[in-house]
Amino acid sequence: MRNKLLALSVGFSLIAFTGCQDGSATDTTNTEEAKEKDIFEGKPLSMEYEDEIDSLISLMTLEEKSGMLHGTSMFATSGVPRLGIPELTMADGPLGVREEISRDSWAPAGWENDHATFLPAGGGLSATWNPELAYTFGNVIGAETRDRNKHVLLAPAFNIIRTPLGGRTYEYFSEDPFLNKQIAVPYIVGIQENDVAASIKHYAVNNQETNRGTVDVLLDERTLREIYLPAFEAAVEQGHAYSVMGAYNRLRGDYLNENEYMLQEVLRDEWGFKGFVVSDWAAIHSTVKALKAGADVEMGTNAPFEEYYFAQPLIEAVKSGELSEDEVNESVRRVLRVMYNIKAIDSTGRAEGSRNTEQHLKDVYNIASESVVLLRNEKDLLPINAQEINSIAVLGNNATRTYAQGGFGAGVKTKTEVTPLEALQNKLPESVTINYAKGYEENYVPAEDGNQNYGRQTIDELDEAMVQEAVEAAKKSDIAVVFAGSNRDYESEAADRRDLQLPFGQEEFIDRIKAANPNTVVVMIAGAPFDLRKVEKDASTLVWSWFNGSEGGNALVDVLLGKINPSGKLPWTMPMALEDSPAHATNSFPGGESVTYEEGILVGYRWFDTKNIDPMYPFGYGLSYTDFDFSNARVNKTEAFTDDETIQVSVDVTNIGELDGKEVVQLYVSKTDSNVERAAQELKGFEKAMIAAGETETVTIEVPVKELAYYNIENKKWTVEPGIYTLKLGNSSRNILQEVKIEIE
Ligand code: BGC
Repeated sequence: MRNKLLALSVGFSLIAFTGCQDGSATDTTNTEEAKEKDIFEGKPLSMEYEDEIDSLISLMTLEEKSGMLHGTSMFATSGVPRLGIPELTMADGPLGVREEISRDSWAPAGWENDHATFLPAGGGLSATWNPELAYTFGNVIGAETRDRNKHVLLAPAFNIIRTPLGGRTYEYFSEDPFLNKQIAVPYIVGIQENDVAASIKHYAVNNQETNRGTVDVLLDERTLREIYLPAFEAAVEQGHAYSVMGAYNRLRGDYLNENEYMLQEVLRDEWGFKGFVVSDWAAIHSTVKALKAGADVEMGTNAPFEEYYFAQPLIEAVKSGELSEDEVNESVRRVLRVMYNIKAIDSTGRAEGSRNTEQHLKDVYNIASESVVLLRNEKDLLPINAQEINSIAVLGNNATRTYAQGGFGAGVKTKTEVTPLEALQNKLPESVTINYAKGYEENYVPAEDGNQNYGRQTIDELDEAMVQEAVEAAKKSDIAVVFAGSNRDYESEAADRRDLQLPFGQEEFIDRIKAANPNTVVVMIAGAPFDLRKVEKDASTLVWSWFNGSEGGNALVDVLLGKINPSGKLPWTMPMALEDSPAHATNSFPGGESVTYEEGILVGYRWFDTKNIDPMYPFGYGLSYTDFDFSNARVNKTEAFTDDETIQVSVDVTNIGELDGKEVVQLYVSKTDSNVERAAQELKGFEKAMIAAGETETVTIEVPVKELAYYNIENKKWTVEPGIYTLKLGNSSRNILQEVKIEIE
């Protein structure tokens, strides 16, 4: 939707600050190029190799073809060395390139040289509301994938956050399809510029971990199209992702990897996808049905690889005539097409890649520094003026916790991950005494007591001696900072959380610290919403950070110390209570054999706004150390818009505070007199702008009229209804500051 980057959003630093420990500036990988290019338009797969591919296929045996279509080790399929075709190698993202896994088991291969930069988890990236940083993210992880000599990166992951309990909420981007695609597309473009393929996941409606391997998702077509598919569609049509990962779950009866509707009709016929579909690990359940439906590559979780559906059974199915060899050839062709395009066959001119560089650390620092969300700052405790305090209490398990590894699924073997305590020790002047106390233990009910080792049950009783030590530290300090929240053992793939309660007795702990020192800052480090009602009570100062990569601690501490003015915005709604959020209010989570998405299109803030339910913190919310005023909203014209036009909405944004800062101008659209059901409002544009203290900048958001369409189930077309639309400009979904109306013909 946004084409060339608007000058305003490009590459500004906020206030002079030093991020990385070497105190360097804030350039990002390829920022200069990003200014010149369209980060929303990837390079389509070239068809120039089709003849070569045909001749290669004509020389291959059926066994060789089958070898290319299924895992013959944990993260690779076979090549055909005699024809110059290498193995197709894959690596997990999205937190960074996963360490090398053994060829025939999940055990780490034990390499010494498979370290990678730990990048912020999805929630942190999307909280930047900065597509340019998503492009940078892609470029970093793409270069590292290339440097690890992998062909395919299994990322980005961007299923819609339907329930706050979702185990992978921390990994995904948003509850909103528009924000989702604005982050996903430049991310993919960034990856693939490094001559590696992005495998976008998990296609599709893999919105829960509970029963993920079997659950049949039932939802109406409009909801599928308007909420769950837009980012996938944009990833294919604009980002030109070269690979798609078929999810574990079913949709309307068929497993995603056997779902002809999703793989053939939607993905290939409608969206024009020309790459290959790889299954999630062990998400294929048949040979003939899956291949005919459009799955190309079967990956799995364990040997023996020759028993995979696309191994010996595929060879037999061709021999018995259940599959034609042409059908097999088609899948091989798709794989080879991608391999040629990423220069895996003829490597002339292939990008070189790089890994664990200083520049990558700067990049992840920049991403993290724009992701931190300031939720409350009523007493102006923040930013902490290090010159004016003598002591600080640093409390909580997350002061020293790391997030590169943990839980079930992919992590990163990182060389560095700076914790908040380390960052404070490095950045505070010697005159400030740090009184550190952990305060509570991260305790889980042991696995042998029937507790699974992920989606865990916690022990929430506090250890009084530990609390006392923390209380004493808080009492004798000028200011106390509690680093609370969760971690990647608690939030994990393969299990949804049980509830939204803060684990390990943290509610009570925070209460005790607040009582000991009224100048208490609560910092939540987590990837998903928590019930903050108790923590909020009497908390004047609340900050939200994420599983935020190698430089997470540095970025967070620079926000606390005012070297960075916070500009992150929540990418999802923080509900007061679980039962307020749509999947739970409609009693349609997690289902059993099947789950019906009863809330339909009213996912996330669409539900809260339409049903007039107050959230704890709304979608798009986040404060700054300065304040912004919006005025003079206007459009390039107000009426007679046609489908192929673009609406240009401008607003003057004044920084009325004393610090430079970035604001995210958000544009929501309402149509009150619609003939179809509509959410109260929908995000249709945003722009992050740097505005110097006291200055006014005009921020322009471009909205293609097509973006206002709804999916018409009758004619199966995106349809723009004529009539009046209200365009609302604000700095959160619940703080609309300006409105303009336009009419569409
Ligand atoms: C996850 C995928 C991942 C794959 C390989 C699966 O459990 O769902 O996201 O890419 O494992 O590790």
